Amino acid sequence: MESKNTLSEHQYLIAPSILSADFACLGKEVQEVLTAGADWIHFDVMDNHYVPNLTIGPLVCEAIRPYTQKNGAPAVIDVHLMIEPVDRIVPDFAKAGANLISFHPEASPHVNRTLNLIRDQGCQSGLVFNPATPLDHLDHTLDLIDLVLLMSVNPGFGGQSFIPSTLQKITQVRTRLDRYAAETGRKIRLEVDGGIKVDNIAQVAKAGADTFVAGSAIFGQDNYAQVISAMRTELGALGNSGKA
Ligand code: DX5
Ligand code: ZN
Repeated sequence: MESKNTLSEHQYLIAPSILSADFACLGKEVQEVLTAGADWIHFDVMDNHYVPNLTIGPLVCEAIRPYTQKNGAPAVIDVHLMIEPVDRIVPDFAKAGANLISFHPEASPHVNRTLNLIRDQGCQSGLVFNPATPLDHLDHTLDLIDLVLLMSVNPGFGGQSFIPSTLQKITQVRTRLDRYAAETGRKIRLEVDGGIKVDNIAQVAKAGADTFVAGSAIFGQDNYAQVISAMRTELGALGNSGKA
């Protein structure tokens, strides 16, 4: 099935995690953060099983979908599944309007099958690596993925500190994805999630990331536009015209 959206352009993208938003008025929060300059909405799904926390599911994804219009088009809902098992719930998220669905390979006994399932449902697919998870799962899956998501904290909670050893891992993945793009002409996004702030986003970009999840850094401030614009200034100062 044809994917609902294209991720082919690799400029820097900012994906606020609504985990740190005010859940009592989520639609308004989503609308406000997109108006403030966010590119994607990062949607953290936790099950109190794969991770020790419980958050939101397909019903909430469906409920925020009407609030994601940006410049006349729907912004990407970037669903990060921290759940086990994975497959049963994938079609529910696709029906609820998810554009991109990522999961942790440890949480699926058949990683290829899950990646195919996500694409068959019309979504783009991503694999997520915890700080201590080796990158071996990329060996046989690159043709089936649209995004690699590197965790820079251990998943489960917002507001944790960035783990510095992630920078090396980002560079390793960047080298690999660039080689793959040169061989195939297909670009895969490299997203980083956890502890990203105005004062470290440039370092994360320099290591090779092109997509940045930020929860507490954005929703913890009153003025979302100010934080997002400060992040873009940091990225702009890298001097590569925003292309990763
Ligand atoms: C952690 C989640 C992250 C988190 C990011 O398990 O996947 O998306 O909410 O939040 P901050 O930016 O506060 O680290
Ligand atoms: Zn996340």
